[in-house]
Amino acid sequence: KAAERYDEPIHIAVIGGTGLQHLSGFTHAATLKLSTPWGEPSSPVSVLHHPSPSTGKPIPIAFLSRHGLHHELAPHEVPNRANIAALRSLGVRTIIAFSAVGSLQEQIKPRDFVVPDQIIDRTKGVRPFTFFEGGMVGHVGFADPFDPPLGTLVQKCGHSLAGEDIVLHDKGTVVCMEGPQFSTRAESNLYRSWGGSVINMSALPEAKLAKEAEIAYQMICMSTDYDCWHVSAGDVTVEMVMGNMKANAENARRFVGAVLDELSKEEHKDLVMATHLQGSMKFAGSVT
Ligand code: ADE
Repeated sequence: KAAERYDEPIHIAVIGGTGLQHLSGFTHAATLKLSTPWGEPSSPVSVLHHPSPSTGKPIPIAFLSRHGLHHELAPHEVPNRANIAALRSLGVRTIIAFSAVGSLQEQIKPRDFVVPDQIIDRTKGVRPFTFFEGGMVGHVGFADPFDPPLGTLVQKCGHSLAGEDIVLHDKGTVVCMEGPQFSTRAESNLYRSWGGSVINMSALPEAKLAKEAEIAYQMICMSTDYDCWHVSAGDVTVEMVMGNMKANAENARRFVGAVLDELSKEEHKDLVMATHLQGSMKFAGSVT
């Protein structure tokens, strides 16, 4: 039985999305049931041991399933503040987040991977989206919603795997919509005219909250459909999303595994600790 506590700090986390509810191939060291001032996270946090490629020492990785262990939480029900706060309380400073997305561009085919660098917010303000409220005022810069140094590392790992069955697009704009319904055709075409590359329901407020928590955050997207703008591909359905996600889950795990291998190297210690972000919220504070 896995331990229920873990006493060492954990610096790296993976947030798994649709189709990536577990990460296989790692030693399971503990299962943590956490609670935060913002409630309980989506799922217990699994602590996985990953052998460091440079020293062989086990590096702990925190794994959280965004939609719950059995996909019971719709995107608008995900307790994002509890998720980020729970990971931060373990010591997490770097998050690799995974998400199934619809493609808004012909060249991004179903099962391709995208390492996005921008987001357009089409959530409707109904999800709690900040830690700063009730007298605590803070404004975090969000010009680069993903962490550029971490993004560069993730792209390199993706390119090292790219080949016949892994296609990688190393930048792109995610349109994050509210859901849970998919877009209308008019909306889908509008997002294309805005320069959107892919669409999901999960990049926000996760990326905003990670930024407020001074955590380096990068999303890896896997395309599962052409949404509904494409004239011949057929409109997106849940079966399409799940089917492509399942068929490509092994590649998703290989990609995340390669990123964890790289992050576990001693030379990336400062990046993993996000030293470049520490203190970025130092002017936030209570006015009462
Ligand atoms: N996730 C996967 N495919 C999607 C789509 N077409 N729209 C929104 N979220 C998605």
